[in-house]
Amino acid sequence: MAKGLFIAIDGTDGSGKTVQSTRLVERLRDMGKQVEILSFPRYGNPSASFIEKYLQGHYGSAEQVGPKRASLLYAVDRYDDADRIQAMLDQGTILVTNRYVSANKGHQMGKIKDPVEQRAFLDWLNELEYGIFQIPKPDLTLLLHVPAEIGKRLAEARDGEASKKDIHQADLQHLKDAEAAYLRLPEIDTVERWERIACVEQDRLLSIDQIHERIWSKVGPLLS
Ligand SMILES: Nc1ncnc2c1ncn2[C@@H]1O[C@H](COP(=O)(O)OP(=O)(O)OP(=O)(O)O)[C@@H](O)[C@H]1O
Ligand SMILES: [Mg+2]
Repeated sequence: MAKGLFIAIDGTDGSGKTVQSTRLVERLRDMGKQVEILSFPRYGNPSASFIEKYLQGHYGSAEQVGPKRASLLYAVDRYDDADRIQAMLDQGTILVTNRYVSANKGHQMGKIKDPVEQRAFLDWLNELEYGIFQIPKPDLTLLLHVPAEIGKRLAEARDGEASKKDIHQADLQHLKDAEAAYLRLPEIDTVERWERIACVEQDRLLSIDQIHERIWSKVGPLLS
């Protein structure tokens, strides 16, 4: 049976995940490939209801909830979709996701300062998501790297500066910590295969096309 390909696209807020995942899927579809796109968390779905409450501050600040408790909420949302994801891959579909386990790794590991504790958390999280919950693992995780401030500005330009923000979006320090964690992950994560895509060079944000080509240079070789 043909086995599909699973590409996760991640990065801090406003880094272009939605734009680039859509673009990648369009290109694959134009080639006649069988492609699906999914976005996590699945806001509006019952499985994401605790995430929504967390992001609204119902359980306290992001720091108060801490990395492990928050990670569980996101992992359950993926677990709820795991069989469907596996079925798509078994049918040979190319699956592209906008955020995945990688987002727990960046956003939740970023809450931890000590590098040794970060590694311990990463081991715990890989066991939770891929061991206990047995959710399918991406073949490749692409990290769109846009410095936190620039991403925050892009998201604000998109939504309007006065738009209501969740407890992650509203906190520049959280976004900077997440950025730093994301940047460590390609080096320290031995379970998932990461590729960093630099989206800003010499303080200049590359164009959507340029970033897409960088993504394509990583995905193209994986196509059979
Ligand atoms: N390379 C780029 N150059 C200019 N504008 C861009 C670029 N990439 C994305 N944008 C714009 O920046 C905004 C944020 O992009 P997008 O919504 O894809 O980011 P995101 O990572 O999905 O954000 P969020 O984390 O909030 O979901 C959008 O308005 C998008 O059109
Ligand atoms: Mg988005």
